[in-house]
Amino acid sequence: MKLYFAPMEGITTATFRRTHAELFDGADAYFAPFLTPSDNEKITKKGIAGLLPDQNPQGTPRAQVLCNNALAFHKFTEKIKCYGFSELNLNLGCPSNTVTRKGRGAGFLKDKTALSAFLDQIFAENDIRISIKTRTGYESGEEMDELVSMYNRHPVSLLIVHARAGLDYYKSTPDLAAFRRAYGKSKHPLCYNGDICSAEDYNRIIAEFPDLDSVMIGRGALKNPALFREIRGGKPLATGELIAFARKLCENYLPVMGCEKYTLQKLKEIWVYVMQNFPDEPKLSKAIKKANTLADFLSAVECLPEL
Ligand SMILES: Cc1cc2nc3c(=O)[nH]c(=O)nc-3n(C[C@H](O)[C@H](O)[C@H](O)COP(=O)(O)O)c2cc1C
Repeated sequence: MKLYFAPMEGITTATFRRTHAELFDGADAYFAPFLTPSDNEKITKKGIAGLLPDQNPQGTPRAQVLCNNALAFHKFTEKIKCYGFSELNLNLGCPSNTVTRKGRGAGFLKDKTALSAFLDQIFAENDIRISIKTRTGYESGEEMDELVSMYNRHPVSLLIVHARAGLDYYKSTPDLAAFRRAYGKSKHPLCYNGDICSAEDYNRIIAEFPDLDSVMIGRGALKNPALFREIRGGKPLATGELIAFARKLCENYLPVMGCEKYTLQKLKEIWVYVMQNFPDEPKLSKAIKKANTLADFLSAVECLPEL
């Protein structure tokens, strides 16, 4: 069973991925957050730069695109092929209003006729492997069967299903009934995604769906960066590892962000998830949230108790 680190925009940046891989093993690949093809060459090039080997010494991440226009998809594909990419992941899951109201991400699932025509075109026109990351539907998991039938008509290299509908955002429990229908019906290698936060969660999913190709983990691996190792039977996360992770993230982010303020912002975003391991430490959580300098942030992190 392959284990993938989920793409998380603003969080699982190239710097995050590289730092995570330096300290923790176990993820078979990292999916990079979406890039949106743009007419501005400079923006597209900057986005692609974050996928290249010098920023990703742990291995090439999987590239993801957020797009509902076949021509833009084609142009983007031609660009990333020049950098050696042979596979592209299509984002059909982003639930954010700014994205869905433009008919992208999970918003594309609303208009199945347009989505079907788009898929016909991109699979016919591009000689690159295309994987899909989808929700179970836009409004509800009732749409799963129709979506899987649509995906089955194309040579999708991997179908990743985040087991929630778009309108569920990241809330509610994953819709395993809808996922079960995808499991029964999909012709493609299938990847489960949604709320895997422990080795027990993972074991429950693979016991129920033993023929999965892979499992993708997002927020659970932000909370516990050693989760992939734990799932593979390795030792549990230790507080010392979180302290080392914080120090390394500071060291690696500072030259990239160019200043302490933005580095601190990045670290705080990640530590919102890490602090879920310490529900009995509201004072330390507050000190971390309120830290004005990296030194204050790190000294609060260094006070975290043993897990
Ligand atoms: C802050 C944040 C940013 C995300 N950005 C992306 C993204 O760029 N592309 C994508 O396909 N999914 C994105 N997701 C969704 C995750 O990849 C994943 O599907 C979702 O969090 C469910 O998995 P989990 O319960 O293991 O976190 C994002 C999620 C979060 C919380």
